[in-house]
Amino acid sequence: MNLHIFDTAEQIAVAVGNMMIEQLNEKPESVMGFATGASPVPTYKYLIKCFNEGKVSFKDMTTFNLDEYCDLPVEDKNSYFTFMHENLFNHIDVKEENVNFLNGNAEDSEAECVRYDNLIDEKKIDVQLLGIGQNGHIGFNEPADKFTKGSFKVQLTQSTIDANSIYFDENPMPHYALTMGTVSIMKSKKIILIATGASKADAIYGLVNGEITPNCPASILQVHPDVHIFMDKAAAAKL
Ligand code: F6R
Repeated sequence: MNLHIFDTAEQIAVAVGNMMIEQLNEKPESVMGFATGASPVPTYKYLIKCFNEGKVSFKDMTTFNLDEYCDLPVEDKNSYFTFMHENLFNHIDVKEENVNFLNGNAEDSEAECVRYDNLIDEKKIDVQLLGIGQNGHIGFNEPADKFTKGSFKVQLTQSTIDANSIYFDENPMPHYALTMGTVSIMKSKKIILIATGASKADAIYGLVNGEITPNCPASILQVHPDVHIFMDKAAAAKL
């Protein structure tokens, strides 16, 4: 594992953004896995800035997002589809037909997960960006007795509901989501994880120094051959 510790979230954004830009400049048709949540937002802002300065193009990139809520209209302000468009896709030259999401409203969620995994297996993700939950989740792979495999429908834990319900005012936060599974994430050629703030310190300890256990789903990253963890000092405090 490659550990990178910085003072500020902005410095992390520049370092992660530059790693992604290098990938896209070397291989414009790269397949990129994106995450939502607060952690990657400064990186997305930096990517938009570099795009506006002509330092990178996304026109041949294919994207896969990690997860999507169930039972939430795709145009809702809190859907991950809306999040990615508002925070990145609407501001760059990615082609909409190359943007892939799990459909959280699919009638047959199992078939939808198989469709998504088959597409990922066909395209192969070059770089997967991740955040980490306070409980060690990646995507919506919550602490459990077993590591998950492919994409699946998950019941969110109270910890995740508490952390994310701050974004929901009119509609209640959904309690289910579709997510890429642990095996789907581990198939990515390179993984970049961003963690900032003291609330992530225990999860980062579990990820880096803890036992490899489904109780801390991120700990599986210890056996991936190309992982970069970008942290601020508060998130790295327990290492
Ligand atoms: C988001 C996702 C989640 C978040 C995690 C951290 O697509 O899959 O695993 O990365 O909950 O969220 P933030 O960055 O908001 O602390």
